[in-house]
Order: sequence, then C-alpha cells, then structure tokens
Amino acid sequence: MNTLDVAKDAAIAAGTVLSDFFRSGVTMRTKEVSVDLVSDADVNAERAVAELIRAKFPEHSILGEEENEGDVNAQHLWVIDPLDGTTNFAHGIPHFAVSIAYYKDGVAQTGVVFNPIVDDWYTASKDGGAFHNDRPIKVGSQNSLGQVVVGTGFYYDRGATMEATLAAIDRLFKQQIHGIRRFGTASLDLAMVATGQFGAYFEYQLSPWDFAAGRLLVEEAGGRVTTCENAAVPLAKTSMLASNGLLHDQVLAEVRRGI
Ligand code: IPD
Ligand code: CA
Ligand code: CA
Repeated sequence: MNTLDVAKDAAIAAGTVLSDFFRSGVTMRTKEVSVDLVSDADVNAERAVAELIRAKFPEHSILGEEENEGDVNAQHLWVIDPLDGTTNFAHGIPHFAVSIAYYKDGVAQTGVVFNPIVDDWYTASKDGGAFHNDRPIKVGSQNSLGQVVVGTGFYYDRGATMEATLAAIDRLFKQQIHGIRRFGTASLDLAMVATGQFGAYFEYQLSPWDFAAGRLLVEEAGGRVTTCENAAVPLAKTSMLASNGLLHDQVLAEVRRGI
C-alpha cells in the first residue's frame, strides 16, 4: 500500500470519528460550546489516524497536533491535523477537515485534506499532480489583484497578529481585490488556492499540521508557497503566502510588512 492510500484510509477513519461527534450534538449552538467534547473528537480522530499509519509503517515518525510529538527531522514523517477548523466544528459549521501529509527527508510527498461532512477530497502526490474528488486541479491564471478573492486567517490571537492581518487586508483592498474570505480552516484555504477559487491565501502564524498537506496541493496545482517574507517554508511555526504564482509578488508586497 502506498502512502497516498494509507493517508486516505486514515482520513476516512478520522472523518468517521469527527462526523459522529459532529452529528451527535457536540456542537452547542445555543449553549456554551463544550470544549471537552471537541477535544475528545480531536484526540480520538488523531488516535485513529496514528493507529493506521503505525500498522502500515511502524518505523515512521508521526507529528500530530494533539498527542504525537514526531521528530520533524525524521527521514519518514507524517504530519497530522485530525481536526482543522475547530472553531467551525464547535459551532456547528460544517467547514472543517482532516489533514494528513507524508514527508520524506523534509520534502512533502503526499497530502490529503478531507471534509467528511460534504465528502470532499483533496489529494496530491509529489510530481503527480493535485486532485479534487479525483479530478485534476490547477491554480487560477489571474495576473492582477483586481481579479481575485484572497483568503486569510489569524490563529486564535486577538492582538498583534490579528491587527497585522487586518492592516494587510486593508492594503489588499486598496489594490482592488474582489474580496477577502476568512473561512477558518487553513488546509481548506490552501485547497481553495489549488482549485483557483482563491488567487492567494496568507496567514501570519501557522503550525506544521495546518499546512503540511495543503502546501503540496498548491504546489502540485502549479502555485507557489513561501513564507510572508518570501523564504522557503520550514516545517515549523511559520507565516505563509500561497498563490497562483503569477500574483505572488503583488500579494507579497502587501503582506510582507505585516509582522
Ligand atoms: C486553525 C485553523 C484556522 C487558522 C488557525 C489554525 P485549528 O487550526 O486552520 O483557519 O486560522 O491559524 O490554528 O486550531 O482549527 O486546528
Ligand atoms: Ca489546524
Ligand atoms: Ca486542529
């Protein structure tokens, strides 16, 4: 079994955990959200993924948001966000995903982003292209900011990171972008760059599990991914700018002064 098949099986296992929690009323739209239940969903989904990967590749390292502290320098590394879009999940908004990536020698080889509620699949393999529900996808071909919608996000911060993001949004609007979207799930934001729905997406603080799979989707769909300082993306906490490539420098000019 190759790593893409294992990643898909693991995504189905985690997706089943998440949909069960989601449908059985973890979300409390009228009361206070139950933080414990949401974190049970996170942890159980990560366990389901890790169990499957360990069964197939016992010697591989696993870095997961919840409880797997894999070594980012390992030759074979899996990077997992069992529930990306926690705030959406907790509020009953069906826009969240399981994100699973496999890295070899620090280079992304396999990426899967799966929204189990709408059964939406984004997959990519290094040099093998990117796919949305098995159909090949490509980034958009717009070369002016006046032609695109831009995605963003701002961690859980209500201070400097959020303010820097709002200031960058302001600058982008002055360049006539069509609109800004903050949908709350970084892996799906990156998928939307890969499909051409977003001309670009930027965020000032992401963790490896937020972007490990999504960055490969963008790259394999023909786009470009750097930090907001135009550097190569490290497998560490980082800022990120993903674009269709043609718009990269124009967006960079507006977001690089951010933080
Ligand atoms: C978050 C989401 C959100 C992004 C945050 C992430 P989580 O992940 O991807 O869109 O803005 O930076 O931390 O906490 O829902 O797994
Ligand atoms: Ca996340
Ligand atoms: Ca998460």
